[in-house]
Amino acid sequence: MILETKNLTKTFGLRKAVNALNLEIPNGSVYGFLGPNGSGKSTTIRMMTALISPDQGEVLINGQSVQKLGNKALLSVGALIERADFHKHLSGETNLKMLARMDGTDESRVQVVLNRTGLGERGKDKVKTYSQGMKQRLGIAQAILSNPKLLILDEPTNGLDPQGMKEVRDLVRELAAEGITIFISSHLLDEVQKICSHVAMISQGELKTAGPIEVLLKNSDLLVTEIHVDPIAPAIKLLSTQSWIHRCEEKNGLLNVGVSLDKISDLIQLLVQNNFQVSAVIPRTSLEDVFLSKVGEESQI
Ligand SMILES: Nc1ncnc2c1ncn2[C@@H]1O[C@H](COP(=O)(O)OP(=O)(O)OP(=O)(O)O)[C@@H](O)[C@H]1O
Ligand SMILES: [Mg+2]
Repeated sequence: MILETKNLTKTFGLRKAVNALNLEIPNGSVYGFLGPNGSGKSTTIRMMTALISPDQGEVLINGQSVQKLGNKALLSVGALIERADFHKHLSGETNLKMLARMDGTDESRVQVVLNRTGLGERGKDKVKTYSQGMKQRLGIAQAILSNPKLLILDEPTNGLDPQGMKEVRDLVRELAAEGITIFISSHLLDEVQKICSHVAMISQGELKTAGPIEVLLKNSDLLVTEIHVDPIAPAIKLLSTQSWIHRCEEKNGLLNVGVSLDKISDLIQLLVQNNFQVSAVIPRTSLEDVFLSKVGEESQI
């Protein structure tokens, strides 16, 4: 494991922001850290990067304790936490050069990371002329300046428009393909599903479920299937009367049904016995379905 948390706990006043959190992030993964606003994502990430101390537990990077060794354990880690703070009246390039000098990173890396994040042409412009998306990419450029093996990103797409979000997503994918392990927090389920290999879901500081996304989708208690059935409206009417069907709706002309895995054959049988034409049954469980089955409807993400 490149990154682990063991019994990580942080209390603010009476509120447990992070409660006995155990995470295991395998080398080479793109690990999504998913939870609603206020669930403890940033607090966890601040403990991972030694910005705050836990009340209990510890963070291990390649087996080394961040709490015991401080910045020494963080040498192979790059991070973008909340919004990166740059000198706005200076250029992106000058900002990065200053940071490189402070870290003892070779200045030749500055142009490399500017190019890498699509800012090669704009490096000499002042940061105050950058769009939100460009500022965020400059933040990622800063995070990869020292060629880290592990990149920790706290909601890097926050505040970006769909195009800006896509640019950051593409960049994350490319960095992952180059072999960097990425731990990325988000409150956007579909975004995590798009780019991550693994996910941990937290709610109110507690871990609800974690693992490879494929496994979570396959083992979800609530299975959502897309059913190609004809005619559709009477099928919905029939299924809506069954108590073991959790959800039944039409989506783009197809039927989406939420049932538990052991009820799939009953579902198909019921439709066929009632003379409906069933031509396909396709699993369509999303992370949202997993989240709802683990955390419950009351906790909106
Ligand atoms: N410095 C602090 N002092 C007091 N309470 C805090 C502090 N930092 C965080 N909290 C509280 O801890 C809880 C978790 O906050 P945190 O910022 O970790 O959540 P988050 O998952 O990052 O949320 P968001 O999606 O809004 O960024 C919240 O209830 C928050 O109010
Ligand atoms: Mg946060």
